[in-house]
Amino acid sequence: MARHFLGLYLLIVVTLAVVSWGQDRLLQVYSKPDPGEMRPVAAMMSLLTDRLHQAPPESWRNLIAGVAARTGVDVEVFATHEIAGADTLEKLGRGENAYMRSSQGDSWVLKRIDDEHVLALRSREPVAKRGVLDWAVTLLFYALIALVLMFWIWPLTRDLRTLEKAAAQYGNRNWQFAAPIKQHSQIYPLAQTFRKMAARIDGLIASHQDMSNAVSHEIKTPLSRMQFEIELARHATSVAELKGSLSNIKTDIEAIDGLVKATLGYSILERADLTLNLSEHDFTALIPAIVQSAQGDVRGGIAITSTVQNDATRVICDIHLFESVLRNLLYNAGRYAASQIKVSFAVRAGLNELRVEDDGPGIPEDQRSRVFQSFVQLNPQAGRKVGYGLGLAIVKRAIEWHGGDVRIGESALGGALVAANWPVTPTSTR
Ligand SMILES: Nc1ncnc2c1ncn2[C@@H]1O[C@H](COP(=O)(O)OP(=O)(O)OP(=O)(O)O)[C@@H](O)[C@H]1O
Ligand SMILES: [Mg+2]
Repeated sequence: MARHFLGLYLLIVVTLAVVSWGQDRLLQVYSKPDPGEMRPVAAMMSLLTDRLHQAPPESWRNLIAGVAARTGVDVEVFATHEIAGADTLEKLGRGENAYMRSSQGDSWVLKRIDDEHVLALRSREPVAKRGVLDWAVTLLFYALIALVLMFWIWPLTRDLRTLEKAAAQYGNRNWQFAAPIKQHSQIYPLAQTFRKMAARIDGLIASHQDMSNAVSHEIKTPLSRMQFEIELARHATSVAELKGSLSNIKTDIEAIDGLVKATLGYSILERADLTLNLSEHDFTALIPAIVQSAQGDVRGGIAITSTVQNDATRVICDIHLFESVLRNLLYNAGRYAASQIKVSFAVRAGLNELRVEDDGPGIPEDQRSRVFQSFVQLNPQAGRKVGYGLGLAIVKRAIEWHGGDVRIGESALGGALVAANWPVTPTSTR
């Protein structure tokens, strides 16, 4: 960690130093003489050339040497052929001032006197050459900037490390995601996403564990009954006894088959890559049809009534999942209702709402969230068990896949009320 940090710090310092050096060089190459500063120079050059024109050319060098000695200004007379550069020569030809910069950093202002002679004024600019102290100060300056940057980066690096450790621990099958990242941290949203993901994985693992425990437990009972029946059949003394045992074995096989089917149906809904087959359906016809076919499965003497909002003719849902939702709710209600079941469907405030109510014992308030878990049955009947405790888990998952939610309440009829809501335009998420 410290090594990483030091590496990053040095990288920032070196980058800043290189950038600063590069900037100096660029300025040197592209800087143009400041016209404000050059104006007096141009005036002086003009005066000097005028003065020279009044004297014979042989005396020019002496004259200029005299000016240089008197004023300390570095002026000279050059022969035109000593001047290099087509650009410069062209400018001089037009009578303009030309500027030249030597590789040693001297800069020259040139002016044509006549065809053979050029007046040159040299200014020794302080070349941007840095001394050791300059370099030290610059380095210190950038080191400070880098330090400020590091203060900003440090918590980020630290939090990322914490997150990485937590994720690695989680990946090591520890199944505990503990990343103490504060709310003001920049990576807090990332940590939250990780937390949600971990919770979802926890949920999946728990549900798979529940499922395999329940399946093995549920299979064990009919299997041992079958073993017992086979023993009985082996020692059967009459065909009737044999037939009785075989028929019991058949019932147990059916029980196992039913469990496998229900578990598979549920595990499909638990898959992460389920895609909904969304389309529009006429609920004014669909709900009565499902109710009608379920009527045959409920005990005699129970009346099912359905009320569907008149204009619910284009409800969007996955028909297969919706049918399984309504059927499961009807089976439950049919199992517990005393005499009546009410199904209603309405669209309210952008939500589709399906309600199934009965006049049975209802579901106690403290058990209402538990019954949505897979393989939870509140009071399994003694003797031959009915169902597996998967119905409400299936209902919840199917509605969640539609981006909706299911809640349990009390019906005006006296029993349980299960209300499933999902958006009129489902987003196919959970
Ligand atoms: N309408 C209801 N009235 C009273 N209790 C109910 C009602 N619906 C469900 N329950 C309770 O909730 C439990 C879980 O219901 P769920 O539908 O998940 O499983 P199940 O009906 O027992 O089995 P399965 O649906 O797999 O055949 C039931 O065992 C029952 O105790
Ligand atoms: Mg059920």
